Amino acid sequence: MKDTLNVAITGCGVIGRTHAAALQEFPQARIVALVDAIPAAAESLADYIEHSGQPRPGVYATQAEAFAARDVDLVALATPSGLHIQQALEVLAARKHVVIEKPLDVDLSRAQEIESAVEAASRDGVVASVISQHRFDQASMAVSEAVAKGRFGTLTSAIASVAWWRSQGYYDSGDWRGTWAMDGGGALMNQGVHTVDLLLWFMGRPVEINARTARLAHDRIEVEDTAVATITFENGGLAVLHATTAAYPGLTVRVQLMGSEGSAVVDNDLLAYFHAADASDEASSMGLAGGGNQAAQELASYPAEDYEAKDPTVNPAGHVRQYRDILGAIEEGRAPGVTVTDAVNALAAVRAVYVSATLNQPVLFEDVLGGKYNDLVAQTGTASSERV
Ligand SMILES: NC(=O)c1ccc[n+]([C@@H]2O[C@H](COP(=O)([O-])OP(=O)(O)OC[C@H]3O[C@@H](n4cnc5c(N)ncnc54)[C@H](O)[C@@H]3O)[C@@H](O)[C@H]2O)c1
Repeated sequence: MKDTLNVAITGCGVIGRTHAAALQEFPQARIVALVDAIPAAAESLADYIEHSGQPRPGVYATQAEAFAARDVDLVALATPSGLHIQQALEVLAARKHVVIEKPLDVDLSRAQEIESAVEAASRDGVVASVISQHRFDQASMAVSEAVAKGRFGTLTSAIASVAWWRSQGYYDSGDWRGTWAMDGGGALMNQGVHTVDLLLWFMGRPVEINARTARLAHDRIEVEDTAVATITFENGGLAVLHATTAAYPGLTVRVQLMGSEGSAVVDNDLLAYFHAADASDEASSMGLAGGGNQAAQELASYPAEDYEAKDPTVNPAGHVRQYRDILGAIEEGRAPGVTVTDAVNALAAVRAVYVSATLNQPVLFEDVLGGKYNDLVAQTGTASSERV
């Protein structure tokens, strides 16, 4: 194991900069190469890295050029979503570790290919992970550990909602935004996939998905700005999923998980409510009606300092938390906290929403995952066609 991990960032836009900032927390990581189709984007990120006191990385137009010029150990992929699998396959073929921004990609047709490439590379010690930084928040950790220990009893239902606002200017800021080919979807695929991942992490494997989507408050985008769905899970539990970028001025992201012996609410990444019967003497045949909040006592086991970035200006700290896991996985030769298979499942759940909305009928998760609808061209729902 080398002392220094040489990193390349492919895609030097908004989130490429977050990766550069997050990696500065880790003295063992050195950014040696920046890859972008637009040289000015890579040069601007190189300036930022240099101004923060690090050696200026080399700037390249393609990953192949970067790999030929530099000894790269790890690649962070922060390009438009529709390029992720293709570029990750290049990285894995070169036997380098890879961190892929969410979502894994926009379609599932190459999901099996990437899963087998990851498996083959992992035999050579290569680690592949997909960003889902909110899994590493205190609140999500507390909830997922309670779920794993069965503290909520039977998980009966969940409500997951992403109620955000994105202006027309946001969608106009990049050619790829709001397109099926490169964004892969709208509010649910781009903004909501984190929450879909949390929902599946907590509730398990989906069985059936029934959805509607619409484009209601934006122009010049192909995809939905509003999506709703119901999901049934393998354990019989039921969930409501909602994602929108048309909720001005933007409300919160909320995951509410409910079980026969406990419930939790994560609101804007914070543990707003937690109650497990095993930690309480209070009981009533009518329940506690929202009382008995144990969130503070539960969070005491997850000290805030373990979750903060050392440098408080690093924002968002979520990427720092996930990099702790990824660099630990590389060092210890273990699987990362978020695997490519987890990301395939989240992508399949989002695709299932689009397939269901397009066909106007419920669909089985396993059919979508198995590629049955890979050729289906997704459409936004009837509300959008009424508007245009
Ligand atoms: N984890 C999160 O919270 C989070 C937040 C925002 C975006 N993202 C994800 O990050 C990815 C990028 O989003 P963004 O907002 O940074 O987009 P962006 O448009 O700001 O940046 C993308 C960059 O990729 C470059 N690029 C395009 N084609 C390329 C190619 N073939 N090779 C190399 N570079 C190329 C572009 O020139 C641009 O600089 C998306 O998949 C998005 O879903 C994740």
